[in-house]
Amino acid sequence: MALFTGTNLIELDSAESTNNYALNLLREKQPFEGTVVRTFRQTLGRGQRQKHWESADFSNLTFSTIYYPVFLSVSRQFQLSKAIALGVADFLKSIVQAENVKIKWPNDIYIDDKKIAGILIENAVSGNKISSAVIGIGLNVNQTTFSQEIPNPVSLKMIAGNDLDLESCFQRLCISLEVRYMQLKGGKDNVINEQYHNSLFGLNEEREFLIDNKKTIAEIVGVDDLGKLNLKENGTVTAYDLHHIVFRI
Ligand code: BTN
Repeated sequence: MALFTGTNLIELDSAESTNNYALNLLREKQPFEGTVVRTFRQTLGRGQRQKHWESADFSNLTFSTIYYPVFLSVSRQFQLSKAIALGVADFLKSIVQAENVKIKWPNDIYIDDKKIAGILIENAVSGNKISSAVIGIGLNVNQTTFSQEIPNPVSLKMIAGNDLDLESCFQRLCISLEVRYMQLKGGKDNVINEQYHNSLFGLNEEREFLIDNKKTIAEIVGVDDLGKLNLKENGTVTAYDLHHIVFRI
């Protein structure tokens, strides 16, 4: 069991969005660090860029954990994103061939070229520090059919060939997340940066992007400390943030 992540577990029969529930909790009080809001029936799951997160009832993990990364200045907030993505990847590497687990910038988790997990982190800021973070994770575990709109989904069951125990996956994932969160808290940014970089989907490859709505082929050369994706086009490296670019696959 993790030391604090999931120790205080708020289990809901159903919820529109566990992130919303956790954000509301934070408005009312300061829950223990590591408090997890979990449901196996999420009706209006939210993804990045205002997208919907689909998850079949009782098939997957959909939960949000509350951390207080007050040690993190706003300019370093992407480090939290990296740490959490690595935590999810670490857990998956205990089940799937490690080299097949990739982090697609900024923090989608892929197995080969298919998406298995999504992360939605919502920070609150006080001064120039992050005062709280709601870390929402959707992990496809036992779902095997997905609606047409989802471009390239995969689940652990589709890879492993058998159902997995959701409770055991949850407990192990909480440990992996906590280990990486503590690494971040302990200032091990070098380790986090290096391992994030090593897991980066499409690194040193030419990929297709929509940059300011224009289709562009560019080589991924890395992600900088601000979390911007560095792309090489015609010999020139440019850093892009989420607002200007869509990574197409
Ligand atoms: C993405 O890939 O766009 C992020 C998806 C995040 C989904 C999770 S499921 C639990 C939590 N609650 C939400 O409403 N969203 C996150």
